[in-house]
Amino acid sequence: MDYTIETLIPREAVEKRIKELASEIEKDYKGREVIVLGLLKGSVIFMSDLIKEIDIPLVIDFMSVSSYGNGTDSTGVVKILKDTDFELKGKEILIIEDIIDTGLTLKYVREFIESKGTKSVAICTLLDKPSRRKVDIKGDYVGFEIPDEFVVGYGLDYAQKYRNLPYIGVVEFHEDEE
Ligand code: IMP
Ligand code: MG
Repeated sequence: MDYTIETLIPREAVEKRIKELASEIEKDYKGREVIVLGLLKGSVIFMSDLIKEIDIPLVIDFMSVSSYGNGTDSTGVVKILKDTDFELKGKEILIIEDIIDTGLTLKYVREFIESKGTKSVAICTLLDKPSRRKVDIKGDYVGFEIPDEFVVGYGLDYAQKYRNLPYIGVVEFHEDEE
């Protein structure tokens, strides 16, 4: 199937919103020791922009989980491909995600992390598609609520491509002509 990518959220708007989220996080976490935990690979671009704007001595770590194949639909199966490097017991964790869609991935990850005896767990997501939710989970810091469209850019991929787009685009599928 043929497709094009249309801009949904321009670069300037994303950058501005990330600064707002960063200042909220900075205010909330001042004086606390936080581990900022990115979910690979989707969170990487967002997380690197975000943490540069947070003026507190934070620690970063990453986890890798799989929830999707190469298509656009959730399998509902979450597998831990890479656990954290650091011990999370007693720590304050801020999970960074690119998007909350059905919520299946984050619900699993959140419970997995909480089961390590953390002091607190919060979620920061660049995008949220609330209309797609299948389980009860919410972001504590949400960049943008978006409609039920398949988006790419700023870390989000379509079949592993377009993560490096500096804006959020919608993938529009067209019936092949001729
Ligand atoms: P969930 O478990 O359905 O909430 O899926 C979360 C994961 O699905 C995200 O971390 C993304 O990797 C992927 N995902 C969901 N919606 C989109 C989208 O619109 N574009 C690209 N990836 C998406
Ligand atoms: Mg992801």
